[in-house]
Amino acid sequence: MKKYLVTGGAGFIGSNYIHYLFEKYSDIQVINLDKLTYAGNLENLREIENRPDYQFVEGDICDEKIVDDLMKDVDYVINFAAESHVDRSIGSPDDFIKTDVYGTFVLLESARKYKIKKFVQISTDEVYGSIEKGSFVETDPLMPSSPYSASKSGADRLAYSYFVTYDMPVLITRCSNNFGQYQYPEKLIPLFITNAIEDKKLPIYGDGKNVRDWIYVLDHCDAVDFILHNGKNGEVYNIGGGNERNNLEITELILNGLGKSKNLMTFVEDRLGHDRRYSVDCRKLESLGWRPKYEFSKAMDLTIDWYKNNQWWWKKIKSGEYLDYYKKQYKMK
Ligand code: NAD
Ligand code: DAU
Repeated sequence: MKKYLVTGGAGFIGSNYIHYLFEKYSDIQVINLDKLTYAGNLENLREIENRPDYQFVEGDICDEKIVDDLMKDVDYVINFAAESHVDRSIGSPDDFIKTDVYGTFVLLESARKYKIKKFVQISTDEVYGSIEKGSFVETDPLMPSSPYSASKSGADRLAYSYFVTYDMPVLITRCSNNFGQYQYPEKLIPLFITNAIEDKKLPIYGDGKNVRDWIYVLDHCDAVDFILHNGKNGEVYNIGGGNERNNLEITELILNGLGKSKNLMTFVEDRLGHDRRYSVDCRKLESLGWRPKYEFSKAMDLTIDWYKNNQWWWKKIKSGEYLDYYKKQYKMK
């Protein structure tokens, strides 16, 4: 019986990971430590919330006491907790530094004290910065360009330092852009799907030619679990979907998928410091035997259908604090 401490498990990827774990294993225990920021949502976990092998703890990864109390008999730590949205990091970086850097430090210190068997730091492909041609390998230098990616780079290298200095069993993953169910509708794909359903404008930054490599969230979850069990301590693993698309292509896919007019597309001011292209070389992970399983267009169809059929989930979110944020962001009336 292995015990997982999943941080940020009420967010998009963390909640998908917890569902993934319970579908795959019958002999595990999962503790979900989440601060429930604007991005944390317990409705993502309602099907499993009463399981005896699952425990939710509301708390901050920066809080040493809570972290120490939970860490005592844990086997694996998977650190998803983070402030994750680039636009928010441009407006107010403070919480990014606190959670993404200091919070990771608190978890690492506690994991060291309790001799945890594996510590997986969920980093991101954004730590490399932008690349015009070719793809980054794990040993390339980090050149993050936003306060978000800079704070994630800090956490990434801090985790590595605990392997080098204290021989801690740390693994680091750098995944590309995820999409799928339960993604907060501030990120490109869920924002555009939900806006299109409501016949609202889709705000495309700049010329819309920025490229991202898209991966279905359940493939990311599968890769994290694979790396936890098959990765080598101290190593970094890139994870990608192999689906590079620019934002105009993604927008058209969504509009076509929903049978909506291209008139909904609207070009807005570019994001400050907007990275042109992300691309990771995944041969290191492939050589261990892992590849994504979901075909891109099928996963996009699944995702569009999910947002069409679960309007109760996102309509609640797209009100209140969310609306205030978006009015400011796009200078909406
Ligand atoms: P998310 O914003 O949907 O979820 C983050 C979760 O962390 C939320 O539930 C939030 O409440 C929680 N959280 C925030 N601060 C906390 C704190 N101080 N203590 C405890 N919990 C806290 O993010 P996501 O998209 O699910 O991303 C999860 C992780 O994966 C992040 O570390 C992110 O950097 C990384 N990542 C994301 C992507 C992507 O495309 N979304 C790609 C690669 C890596
Ligand atoms: O690459 C992995 C990263 O992907 C993760 O580490 C981050 O947590 C995650 O937020 C994501 O970052 P991006 O900045 O790439 O994702 P976002 O969905 O914010 O934007 C994707 C692209 O779409 C980017 O080029 C900006 C553009 N965009 C985004 C929004 C929200 C628009 O054109 N309009 C929008 O309204």
